[in-house]
Amino acid sequence: MDQKFIINGQQSLAGTIQVKGAKNAALKIFPVALLTHEPIRISNLPEIEDCRRAEEMLLALGHEVKKTKLGPVEIRYKSQKCVNLPADLVNKFRASVMFVGPLLASCGEVYFPHPGGCVIGAGTRPIDEFIDGFQKMGAKIEVAENKYRLTAKKLNGAKIFFRKMTVTGTESLMTTACLAQGETILKNCAMEPEISALADFLNRIGAKIEGAGTPNIKISGVKKLGGGEYKIIPDRIEAGTFSMLAAASNSGKVVIQNCEPEHLEALWALFDKIGVKYKLGKDSIEISPAKKLIACDVKTHEYPGFATDLQPAYTVLMTQAQGASLIHETIYDRRLIFTDSLTQMGANIIMADPHRVVVNGPTKLYGRKLMSPDLRAGMTLVMAALIAQGKTEISNIYQIERGYEKLDERLRGLGADIKKVSTN
Ligand code: EPU
Repeated sequence: MDQKFIINGQQSLAGTIQVKGAKNAALKIFPVALLTHEPIRISNLPEIEDCRRAEEMLLALGHEVKKTKLGPVEIRYKSQKCVNLPADLVNKFRASVMFVGPLLASCGEVYFPHPGGCVIGAGTRPIDEFIDGFQKMGAKIEVAENKYRLTAKKLNGAKIFFRKMTVTGTESLMTTACLAQGETILKNCAMEPEISALADFLNRIGAKIEGAGTPNIKISGVKKLGGGEYKIIPDRIEAGTFSMLAAASNSGKVVIQNCEPEHLEALWALFDKIGVKYKLGKDSIEISPAKKLIACDVKTHEYPGFATDLQPAYTVLMTQAQGASLIHETIYDRRLIFTDSLTQMGANIIMADPHRVVVNGPTKLYGRKLMSPDLRAGMTLVMAALIAQGKTEISNIYQIERGYEKLDERLRGLGADIKKVSTN
């Protein structure tokens, strides 16, 4: 059933909003269950479409997944019956590639199509870093018609240098190396907090990982992993996006709770520059109305730099700031295309090339009929609609609900006029 959001903008936003568990941490923990026969419990799991797909993947591979009375989801090994990753699920989310290494390690074989996910890069988003890593660990690779078959009697430790800093690539090879024979050294690793959180959990259940959160990670292979509970860290992208929504709306005091402000230092440095009034607590952020916002350039960067996933929301914020700002998206080729929708809403945005736009502000935004192109851009259109004058309709909201739990309900808690309706 297709659904859309209907938003009447310019309501005053004030009050508290809770941040959920991080999607990009949650998705990486499900495949760990393939590496152990002990139960794994996941708490603070966001109820989002991508996590449902990850659960379906484990069910298809023969595992049991159920919600316990106390809340956490529990995964139990029943049988590992399949070496094929179901194509319909792999097509739906890119993090499905995280299942490849563990399945290869536990079955000696895995067969899968090129993974799907948000269309934010030119063509399909590559997985060459994963494939080259598995090959270095001893896997034989066959590729035909966009489908991969990997086989390995056993996986060995290896020295791997990532040509590109890759978040899921780092997580995938780090996880797979836990049960490989010998030592694996990963260099030029991504350093996102979700990677350190995953390494901490793997170490708690018996892995030997050193250096996660730095560019060099060493994994000493162990014979087996145990079970335990993984509490998902708060979603820093949600926390940052809600902070920018409050700043752009500039209408009341908004407190964002259950978050980790330390994970957003790049955003606070920008807030200092543009004049957002904010206060950080241990696990909360308070945003108060500011007299005036001043435009400031931004360039996306791997962590701890300014996250590409926050770029769309920052672009909307800049439509409300005084002056010109250059938004430079360095990670993806297609992540500025959504600015066309902002232009339709009244923003003054000039595209210099696929990686750079100039926003001239402040401009009023007006409600329009729009379609969510992908997860973060979709959320950003919701944000633009909330500060725009009049009514906006946003279709294709599956793309938004892949990553944001009960978004409409939580925004209504701040005073937003947003409802979800069926389109057929
Ligand atoms: N890349 C390659 N080859 C590879 C892997 C990556 O060329 O084998 C390139 C990508 O095309 C991209 C760059 O390296 O240009 C960085 O990609 P990365 O692998 O780091 O991205 P990812 O792991 O696929 C995760 C998040 C993304 C987030 C990026 C960057 C998950 C499930 N996804 O993607 O989140 O944008 O890191 O921080 O963790 C989102 O949540 O909306 C989202 C897209």
